[in-house]
Amino acid sequence: MTPHHRIGEGRTRLREHRGLSRGSPRPFGALKDPSFRRSLALLRAFRHEQDDPDGCYGLLARDAADQVEAYGGSVAGRTVVDVGGGGGWFTEEFRRRGAHAYLFEPDVRELGEKPPDGAVIADGYLLPLADGVADVTFSSNVLEHVADPQTFLSELARVTRPGGLIYVSFTNWLSPWGGHEWAPWHYFGAERARARYRRRTGKPAKHTLGENLFAVHIGTTLRQVRARDDVTVVSARSRYWPFLAETVVKAPGIRELATWNLLLILRRCPP
Ligand SMILES: C[S@@+](CC[C@H](N)C(=O)[O-])C[C@H]1O[C@@H](n2cnc3c(N)ncnc32)[C@H](O)[C@@H]1O
Repeated sequence: MTPHHRIGEGRTRLREHRGLSRGSPRPFGALKDPSFRRSLALLRAFRHEQDDPDGCYGLLARDAADQVEAYGGSVAGRTVVDVGGGGGWFTEEFRRRGAHAYLFEPDVRELGEKPPDGAVIADGYLLPLADGVADVTFSSNVLEHVADPQTFLSELARVTRPGGLIYVSFTNWLSPWGGHEWAPWHYFGAERARARYRRRTGKPAKHTLGENLFAVHIGTTLRQVRARDDVTVVSARSRYWPFLAETVVKAPGIRELATWNLLLILRRCPP
């Protein structure tokens, strides 16, 4: 992989601008108590995902990069691996912040017309990377699209250096958005919801349960991740929720409905 040409530009300036030295995490305050304004802005952006993808994903990428930096410090100069990164908005944002960021995406259609330079067509189960190369491994909204989330997580952990950060988020099945484009009708059954989507829009749904969308639950995922010996859980929180973002994830049952999207911040253990 060749370092991206923008990597060095303004790295020092960026750090000065944010008042951060390399590796020093941001204050946690804003993240621990995320604001209504932020959640509203994200919600509005999601509503324009189809007609303004750049606006929507640009905002989401800035927000996610802020979250990464809140837990792991500035990404400037760090190696960030974006797994299942779609059109590359997150990779581009990490690069804007001075990271050596690389996009790995298995589906060429998801890359779109303007993928980031050096994007690699690769499956997250088998990344073409040596062990421990990444300071940050980032995977946004991919886990519910893989049939074997635990094997996927093992690969994320493998490529992350000991002490490095792993950012994983997913929309759980019982979230109001769990059915993706056919939500919230998935509560009445996936097949019925897909059929309804086709009837209403005249086009086939992108997702099929059991093929490219899987019913991932928060409780099961937390139990499995906590039982792993390659990562420790730094935080399990609602990714978009404006308040009680960690508390909601602690309430069995309720969390499956109320979390909407689970964000796991994991730290790679020494092998
Ligand atoms: C909902 S999109 C998320 C895209 C982007 N990360 C985001 O948050 O906007 C799900 C992505 O997961 C990718 N994906 C599905 N299976 C994958 C796998 N086995 N390894 C890596 N990515 C995968 C899809 O190709 C798609 O780009």
